[in-house]
Amino acid sequence: MSKITIAIDGFSSTGKSTVAKQLAKYLGYVYVDTGAMYRAVSFYAMENGLISGEDFNIEALIYQLPKIEISFKFNKSEGFAEVYLNGINIEKRIRTLEVSGFVSKVAAISEVRQKLVEQQQEMGKNGGVVMDGRDIGTVVFPKADLKIFMTASAETRAKRRYDELINRGDQVKYVDVLKNVQERDYLDSNREDSPLVKAEDAIEINNSNMTLDEQFDKVLNLAKITLEGI
Ligand code: DC
Repeated sequence: MSKITIAIDGFSSTGKSTVAKQLAKYLGYVYVDTGAMYRAVSFYAMENGLISGEDFNIEALIYQLPKIEISFKFNKSEGFAEVYLNGINIEKRIRTLEVSGFVSKVAAISEVRQKLVEQQQEMGKNGGVVMDGRDIGTVVFPKADLKIFMTASAETRAKRRYDELINRGDQVKYVDVLKNVQERDYLDSNREDSPLVKAEDAIEINNSNMTLDEQFDKVLNLAKITLEGI
C-alpha cells in the first residue's frame, strides 16, 4: 500500500501531538514532533548562556547553529520517538514553562527555521510520516496528501496544558499558562517568516468539545479516505 504524508498544524496545546502519535502508531508511520526541534534549539540557547533575562544573543545562536544536532530515537516503553540534542536525551527538559516562554522567539529566527525545515523535509521525503507543527502544510510539505488544522479556545488549551504540567509535578499557575498560550498564539501568528496560518486545503478540526477518541476517529477516517483516493 502507498504511504502518504500527513501534516497536522495548529495553535499550541491543541492536542496535535497526542492525535498525531496515535495516528502514526496505528498506520505504522514515523511521527515527527517539529515543535520539539524548536524547543531543542531554545534549550541549547539557554544551556549555553545565550539568553539571560530579557537579553537574547541572536547573532551568537545563528553562529552556533552548525553545532546543534537534533535527532530522534524511538523509545519502546513510551511508544514514540524522543528528541536528542547533540546525543543527549532532552525530551523531558524541553516541556517546561521556561522553554515555552522563550521558544516563540527562537522559532521566529529565519536561520533557525531554514535549518530545521531542511531536516524535516529530509525526514519526511519518503512519505509514511505524520508531522505536526505550525508550518507543515504551508512550508515543509505544501503538497502533503492530508492536511489537518487543529483549533480550540485558548482557555481550553491552557487548562489542558496546566493539567499536564501539574501531573508531572511542575509548580505552575493557570493564569501563567493561559498567558503563555496567548502570547505564543500572537507571536506564532504574527512573525514574518512562516507565520501560523491554515493552509487553504487544510481540514479544520475544532476539538474544544471532542474527546481524544473522537479526535482520533476523525483523523483516522480522513487518513483512510485519503489513502483510498490515491
Ligand atoms: O508544538 P510546540 O508547542 O511544542 O511548539 C513549540 C514552539 O515552536 C511554538 O510556540 C511555535 C514553534 N513551532 C514553529 O514555529 N514551527 C513548527 N513547525 C513547530 C513549532
